[in-house]
Amino acid sequence: MTLKQRLQKRKSNKFTTICVHLKSKASAPGKVILFGEHFVVYGVKAILCSINKRITVTAEKINERKISIQSNIGSLELEPNQPIIEIDSPLKPFYYLANKVLQNEESGIKIQVESQIPTGVGLGSSSACCVAGAAAISKLFSEPSKEEILEMAIEAEKTIFQNTSGADCTVCTFGGIMEYDKENGFSKIESEPNFHLVIANSNIEHSTEKIVKEVKFFKEKNENVFSNLCDKELELINDVLELLKKNKIKKLGEKIKQNQKYLETIGISNEKMRKMIHVGNEISFGTKITGAGGGGCIFALTDDTNLEGTLNQFKEKNYECFSVKIDFQGLNTF
Ligand code: PMV
Repeated sequence: MTLKQRLQKRKSNKFTTICVHLKSKASAPGKVILFGEHFVVYGVKAILCSINKRITVTAEKINERKISIQSNIGSLELEPNQPIIEIDSPLKPFYYLANKVLQNEESGIKIQVESQIPTGVGLGSSSACCVAGAAAISKLFSEPSKEEILEMAIEAEKTIFQNTSGADCTVCTFGGIMEYDKENGFSKIESEPNFHLVIANSNIEHSTEKIVKEVKFFKEKNENVFSNLCDKELELINDVLELLKKNKIKKLGEKIKQNQKYLETIGISNEKMRKMIHVGNEISFGTKITGAGGGGCIFALTDDTNLEGTLNQFKEKNYECFSVKIDFQGLNTF
């Protein structure tokens, strides 16, 4: 059954019991890819965690037949049924989601987005938008499960990045720390490691789509090197899963440094990021790029003993930085 059919079935089944909401609110966390970005696109496992920085979306039914979106990165107001391909806005996923639920309705939707997550720097702001947006918007008309919300969120994310592995939306929905691969989906890692991540922002915005294409190009030109790296990444991730169970933070730091070497090899780093990683490695247990690279953020693994020192180290060199912890809630609806 397609998502649309499933949603329609739920809607007709619950016709008498669902209280249709005039206003609904949802929030979803951002994320950090701890290990395995890019290789995950080619089927290798990745390890991700959601972080305690969130996006909150409020959706409201309005009488006027329009979709109106306001956020700290701009606004978008259009009538329903516009061709998605012609919409040139980072708010496109919200329009897609609202337009979809309005297909058999006569109302419009007003959407308000509040964010604690910087955009375009690999911290999952667009995935958190898609997840919180899918939840808030769909709950105006139905009571979807988390799995259905995830499915809608991934569809919405595909309007801006067609080849997404789905990993980001998955961790933003279910929260915590998880392993993920394209074939088997996600599996939560039950340990609750007691680490802090110091995130430093290069302030270079990146396009995930562009960098993923560049990696594809690298892979096509260097098939053997790439396939070897995929094997090494998988081996590293299997070691990491054991270290996480035992909460061996220092050894995890070594794996982070190792993973960064693989990311350097596939060409997603640059001079500024290398400098920042060097700064992070002076005090933290290990530092690497998180997400697509080519800009965006790096993270440094710390615990209570070196958290402040690592933050100060970045601040002294004038890098924008802040610390985060793992979020264990995932998607919240109100
Ligand atoms: O959009 P970012 O920066 O969080 O990076 C996405 C991670 C990739 O592995 C590069 C792509 C993907 O779809 O998993």
